Amino acid sequence: KEIRIFSPATVANVACGFDVLGFCLDTIGDEMVIRQTEQKGIKITVIEGYDLPFEVEQNVAGVSALAMYNSLQPDCGFEIEIYKNIKPGSGIGSSSASAAGSVFGMNELLGKPLNKTQLTHFAMKGEALASKCEHADNLAPAIFGGFTLVKSASPLQILQLPTPSDLFVTLIHPQIEIKTSESRAILPKEILLQNAIIQWANVGSLVHALHTSNYDLIKDALCDVVIEPYRKQLIPHFDDVKNAAMKAGALGCAISGSGPSIFMLSKGEDIAKSVQKAIKTVYAKTNIAFETYVSKIN
Ligand code: HSE
Repeated sequence: KEIRIFSPATVANVACGFDVLGFCLDTIGDEMVIRQTEQKGIKITVIEGYDLPFEVEQNVAGVSALAMYNSLQPDCGFEIEIYKNIKPGSGIGSSSASAAGSVFGMNELLGKPLNKTQLTHFAMKGEALASKCEHADNLAPAIFGGFTLVKSASPLQILQLPTPSDLFVTLIHPQIEIKTSESRAILPKEILLQNAIIQWANVGSLVHALHTSNYDLIKDALCDVVIEPYRKQLIPHFDDVKNAAMKAGALGCAISGSGPSIFMLSKGEDIAKSVQKAIKTVYAKTNIAFETYVSKIN
């Protein structure tokens, strides 16, 4: 028995919601094949796209699969094939897609003994290998879809949020690598109360805006005064991209996860495409290679 799955890319943080908010992209992601075998244990048999370790304990998909396998102790084994489209270190949840894909596929083959929160719990073990920290803000949207909020990491509690029907995302991925562990290391341990007040007001407002499809409020709330000032220094031309995107009609623009990708939300596909055109112009003037995408959130 085997299953072929699409394991989606995700945008974590969504400006104001560091480590708690995330959403799932419709068209960008990895493909994986999970195969049930008579021989017990977990094996990674194919890796295409990017050079990643075949050793199960060194591979995020392997670590999450092993955590689930050891807990369930099924009377079979699994082989994992990974066809990686999401570049590691791109800021759109590359490690999460791998970590989520293996546990999701195994669960399907076993007849769904685990719920989505339990799958996220095991996937976090794989994610921790990549980012040196167990966070679920990419994993939750990869597994649940749409927008999610990680209410608590331990015990794990995930809320699914609604996605307004006309919301589109534009992404730019400058072809430089930023390791999540490194972009976490530059963050301050403490933040100013006045910034915290702005930030949690924005998180609450964004959640309300998603529930009420209030695009003006989404625009007001997509703002990050806590993390962006530190991390944007790692991303060349961040401010230029943001200015161009906002001029072209985006509702907001912020760093995707730990970067270097930058995302913009727009009302409607036409505006999302105009935004894409505008940000392409910014990076086309540099010597940095880049890719851009427009996607629905799903
Ligand atoms: N919330 C995490 C961070 C996401 O920003 O470090 C990493 O992709």
